[in-house]
Amino acid sequence: MAKNIFKSFFTNCAHPKGRMGRIMLRFMNFGHAPLTNWGLGLVSFHDQMTMLDIGCGGGATLRRLLKRSQDAKVYGIDISEESVAKAKKINEDVLDKQVFITQGSAEKLPYDDEMFDVVTAVETVYFWPNLPHCLQEVRRVLKPGGRFVIMVEVLEKDSIWTNVVEGMTAYTPEELQMMLADTKFIQTELHRKKPTYATITAIRPLVCE
Ligand SMILES: C[S@@+](CC[C@H](N)C(=O)[O-])C[C@H]1O[C@@H](n2cnc3c(N)ncnc32)[C@H](O)[C@@H]1O
Repeated sequence: MAKNIFKSFFTNCAHPKGRMGRIMLRFMNFGHAPLTNWGLGLVSFHDQMTMLDIGCGGGATLRRLLKRSQDAKVYGIDISEESVAKAKKINEDVLDKQVFITQGSAEKLPYDDEMFDVVTAVETVYFWPNLPHCLQEVRRVLKPGGRFVIMVEVLEKDSIWTNVVEGMTAYTPEELQMMLADTKFIQTELHRKKPTYATITAIRPLVCE
């Protein structure tokens, strides 16, 4: 019984659903603020950027992105219906004007090629199936010279999380950096902050093979 409650709680990070999912989304919106604000602080922004947050959860990162670029357009996508509903709610005032939120997966992004200046992914890549393929999708939707920013908390390979959440993979930041280079991203950079924060940034080259 206790094990099931525990499992359901953790599984709601991977795919928020129902009441527990809504509680988790509320918690993540403020709980992920320190990692997200630090990671976004490593990136330079300018006015009128078009940006995408994949695995946008409860939508707080969309608002944080909006604050960093005047007259920006910010897109959010998440596989969970509950996440999309929460993200739409907290961005109600700018919804479909400056913020556009869709339900869908990182595996098949419903956006045109070369659409975004910046793509972010906060605490979500562990859950994406076939990560190399998803990275290719990110590269496709980035403008040449556009930047991908992955923010994660570093987890042990054999952690309580990966043991409980089905399909979750605890990549090391170095593995993520390597996978980005393998997907032909350039200028990959790894930043660490104690105790467990990591941000990996990478650029889509101007000329793609
Ligand atoms: C731990 S939450 C992080 C949410 C948000 N980025 C934040 O920092 O609060 C992970 C989110 O990734 C979403 N997700 C999982 N797999 C996904 C996929 N394949 N494509 C898009 N979103 C996905 C989940 O539904 C969930 O909302």
